[in-house]
Order: sequence, then structure tokens, then C-alpha cells
Amino acid sequence: MQTKSFTQSTTRIWDLPTRLFHLGFACCVTGAIVTAKLGNTWMDWHVRLGISALALLVFRITWGFIGTRYARFSQFVRGPLTVWQYIKTISKPSLKKAGHNPLGALSVLAMLAIIGAQAITGLFANDDILTQGPFAQFVSDSTSSLMTGLHQFNEKLVYITVGLHLIAVLIYSLKGENLIRPMVHGDVATHTLAPNTLPAMDSLGMRLIAIAIALPLAIAAWWLMQLAANAGSSFN
Ligand code: HEM
Ligand code: HEM
Repeated sequence: MQTKSFTQSTTRIWDLPTRLFHLGFACCVTGAIVTAKLGNTWMDWHVRLGISALALLVFRITWGFIGTRYARFSQFVRGPLTVWQYIKTISKPSLKKAGHNPLGALSVLAMLAIIGAQAITGLFANDDILTQGPFAQFVSDSTSSLMTGLHQFNEKLVYITVGLHLIAVLIYSLKGENLIRPMVHGDVATHTLAPNTLPAMDSLGMRLIAIAIALPLAIAAWWLMQLAANAGSSFN
């Protein structure tokens, strides 16, 4: 979708499903951390937000295979050599290649893997008081304790990867490259992109496909929340 305005033409890079994923994921992960720190009855919300983050993550992984051009893993996952070459030329002015840059792609993959591990270990975790993940009841106490330990250890990795992500976005902004606006509106000024950059097909058809993926995931998330509610005594 190439759009013209009075001042400048723009190219659609981030499709709506990817942008909504990002918004929802950032809110759920932040909410899960805050509610875990508040503890007590807030743990009910921790479980709900953690499960929602997991559902969003499964959506994003699926979208990484069948989504629009720049959302696809095949478009942005690069080998170490490409990452190294990108780092060497990072300060040289050049027209931007659309989508995640090779270094940003690494941070995206790290966040998906580490937050994914956080959510999966959470499913089996318990706090020995009121709250437990939906699958904790199906495993032995020692397995649940192990998962709880991993959940607590991995927490630091979540802070490191999300912290680096926010610092990187800030550094790019200070250098004059606003990455936040495209992640909100979807578009990048065409004159800043390499010539003949193709737009993402952010069409109604693709959005309907995204809804078709999201619906069963929402049902699965709801089911997991019910399972956790019935297992943990902090739920009413
Ligand atoms: C985005 C994903 C998640 C994040 C960032 C997250 C983060 C956290 C944090 C920071 C804690 C406190 C650990 C501590 O005491 O130091 C915690 C505890 C806990 N989380 Fe999660 N969590 C996530 C997903 C989940 C999920 C999906 C579940 C279950 C459905 C879950 C269940 C629990 C439980 C039962 C505890 C208490 C364990 C304990 O006593 O330490 N979490 N989580
Ligand atoms: C817990 C909070 C956050 C998490 C877990 C998170 C996670 C992610 C993930 C997974 C992506 C990849 C998007 C995709 O391809 O689907 C991404 C991209 C991005 N995020 Fe976040 N994010 C968080 C908060 C924020 C905040 C607060 C901002 C800015 C205000 C931000 C700005 C961006 C931008 C600009 C991109 C695109 C980077 C690029 O152009 O390569 N994020 N984030």
C-alpha cells in the first residue's frame, strides 16, 4: 500500500496485525511484571496477562511464516556475518532497508525466545500459597518447583532483553531515526528507504487471515485461564 500525502509519500512497512501484536505484547509483558511484583490477589491478573502474552507470542510466530513481507522471519533473520557487516557500517549514512535491521532482528528473536520461556515455565509454576499455573496440577511437586525456579531465574533475562530493546529504540531516536512512529502508524517516508522498496500487503484479506489465527488462540488462552482459575485457590 503506497500512500501519497501533500507533503511526502509513505510506504507501508508494518501491517496492522504486527502493530497490534506489538502493542498487546508490550502491555501484557509490562502488566505481568507489575502484577507479579504487587503479588497477593494481583497474581490472578499475573496469570491472565502471562497467558495472554503467550497467546500473542504464538500468533507472532505463526505470522512470522505466513504474514506480510516485513513480518516474515525469512525477511529479517540473518546469519552472524550479515549482523557483523551491519555493525561495521552502522554509523555510515545510507538509505534504510525496510523492516528489522540485522541487529534489531537478533533482539526480536531473543525477546520472543526468552519471554516465550518465561510464559511456558509459568504454566507449570506455583508460589506455594495461592497461585499456580494451569499445568502445575499435572506435574510432580519437584517438576513444578524446578519450573518455578526457572521462571524466577529467567525473569532477569526478560529485564535484560527488554531493557536493551528500549535502549536501542532510544538510541536510534537520538540519532534521528524514529522507529516508534512506523511501529504505531505502519508507514515509513519513502524517500528515506532504498529505491524500489516494496510495500507490505496490509490488505483486508491478510487482516482476515490474522483474525482467523487469533480466534482459536484467544479460545485456547481463555481455556488456560479457566484451568488456572480452577486449580489456584486465589481465584473466585
Ligand atoms: C510474559 C510472561 C511472564 C512474565 C514476564 C512473568 C514474570 C514473573 C515474575 C517477575 C514473577 C515474580 C518472581 C519472583 O518472585 O521473583 C513471576 C511469578 C510467577 N508467575 Fe510469572 N511471568 C509470566 C508468565 C506467567 C504465566 C503464563 C504464568 C502462569 C499461567 C505465570 C505464573 C507465575 C507464578 C505461579 C508465579 C509465582 C512463582 C513464585 O512464587 O516465584 N507467569 N512471574
Ligand atoms: C515490555 C515491553 C516491550 C516488549 C516485550 C517489546 C517487544 C518487541 C518485539 C517482539 C518487537 C518485534 C516486533 C515484530 O516484528 O513483531 C518490537 C519491535 C519494536 N518495538 Fe517493542 N517492545 C516493548 C516495548 C516497546 C516500547 C515501550 C517501545 C517504544 C516506545 C517499543 C518500540 C518498538 C519499535 C520501534 C519496534 C520496531 C523496531 C524496528 O524497527 O526494528 N517497544 N518490540
